[in-house]
Amino acid sequence: MTEKDANQMWGGRFQMSPAEIMEVINASIDFDKRMAREDIAGSRAHAEMLAASGIITQDDRAAIDKGLVQIQSEIEAGTFQYSRALEDVHMNIEARLKEIVGEAAGRLHTARSRNDQVATDFRLYVRAQIDEFDAALAKLQFALAKKALVNAATVMPGFTHLQPAQPVTFGHHLLAYVEMFGRDRGRFQDARKRLNECPLGAAALAGTSFPIDREKTAKALGFDRPTANSLDSVSDRDFVIETLAAASLCAVHISRFSEEIVLWVTPQFGFLKLSDRFTTGSSIMPQKRNPDAAELCRAKVGRIAGAMQSLMMVIKGLPLAYSKDMQEDKEVAFDALDSLRVAVSALSGMVDDMEPVAENMQKAAGYGFSTATDLADWLVRELKMPFRQAHHVTGSIVAAAEKRGVDLGELPLKAMQEVEPSINDSVFSVLSVENSVASRTSYGGTAPHNVEKMAKRWIAQLDSEVAGG
Ligand code: ARG
Repeated sequence: MTEKDANQMWGGRFQMSPAEIMEVINASIDFDKRMAREDIAGSRAHAEMLAASGIITQDDRAAIDKGLVQIQSEIEAGTFQYSRALEDVHMNIEARLKEIVGEAAGRLHTARSRNDQVATDFRLYVRAQIDEFDAALAKLQFALAKKALVNAATVMPGFTHLQPAQPVTFGHHLLAYVEMFGRDRGRFQDARKRLNECPLGAAALAGTSFPIDREKTAKALGFDRPTANSLDSVSDRDFVIETLAAASLCAVHISRFSEEIVLWVTPQFGFLKLSDRFTTGSSIMPQKRNPDAAELCRAKVGRIAGAMQSLMMVIKGLPLAYSKDMQEDKEVAFDALDSLRVAVSALSGMVDDMEPVAENMQKAAGYGFSTATDLADWLVRELKMPFRQAHHVTGSIVAAAEKRGVDLGELPLKAMQEVEPSINDSVFSVLSVENSVASRTSYGGTAPHNVEKMAKRWIAQLDSEVAGG
């Protein structure tokens, strides 16, 4: 290439080639080639609109379209030659189009700029990711709900402060995550609604003097409408920040559940078993079975929330409208969205794979006087004691049991009566962990009957979504 036509796309007034470092700092092709499909879709819609509006001829449009279709298949076949000298995906594709169709290619860029082009491509990319997450999260919820149904009556300890609090069921615990991932899906959908406006036609920043039809391109690309302000259109990256915010919170949820998996598969807890498919061995300690997948799922939130922070810092303080700073939006976003995708599917796999060790859960559910609240409630119900007093009486009974080194249910009636003489032996019926969970029948409570109903409701709802997706 001669110095003069250093860049065939914008080199008209330039005398020298770019410095070598420019290929390193300026070129984005190494990562933005991931948006090639979106770029081609945007260009095809744009060309069609230009022809329909009489801005280019139908012959030129046909040539451009044919060329773009060919480029798409070259990319899919892996034969497309990307060049760093051509900076980004937009110019790589346009340059190739020129090789294929000649002069008509030069008409494609009428009434548009790379600024509205990249904003459009990235919205299309992020939108497709949101749709993938929705399907993947529905699958994860489905896996959780199915496991919850079989474990609707599997008693385990419920913790607060990671101290034994009250018995719950494993099914109930799993359904808590179904709720969380449901809210995550809602947040992605909210982001999608605001994202779904088309920036194409905002051109560089001010709009265009050509009689374009922005409704037409918006519709062709599946957007609800064109964006309303050309400056905002090319400078806005809210759509990806919002998506990364939804992704971060989702990753926080994944991290919390992963931490529980890590704890529960330890011999100390012994609540869960993960098969060889989701664990690894140690090269030195032959007995080890490490929950690597859960640990990595726990960690992914670091990059995902980091990406959101990173992008907000890039956008902060940028004057309107487009600045090249904004090219820094893609790598972090791609990495974060890839990470979330991997984490969601690894977690789905672990949920399918995990087997609760019901005996251990049941035994642990009784540790730490976990039915003390049931005893206090019994005093309120049967002896009409005010709850505060019942709390106090129960505390003294717990202390008596602790002193003898026995569980509440093993404490002789006489010992209880020393604290409160009107206690009778019907109290023992509420002290087992099974009775405890069975009694929690309030809406949203852990009673097996409730859990079964909820799990079935989720399964019915998710069944069609999962089958459809
Ligand atoms: N590669 C650029 C980006 O990712 C495309 C837009 C460049 N626009 C420009 N006027 N240089 O943001």
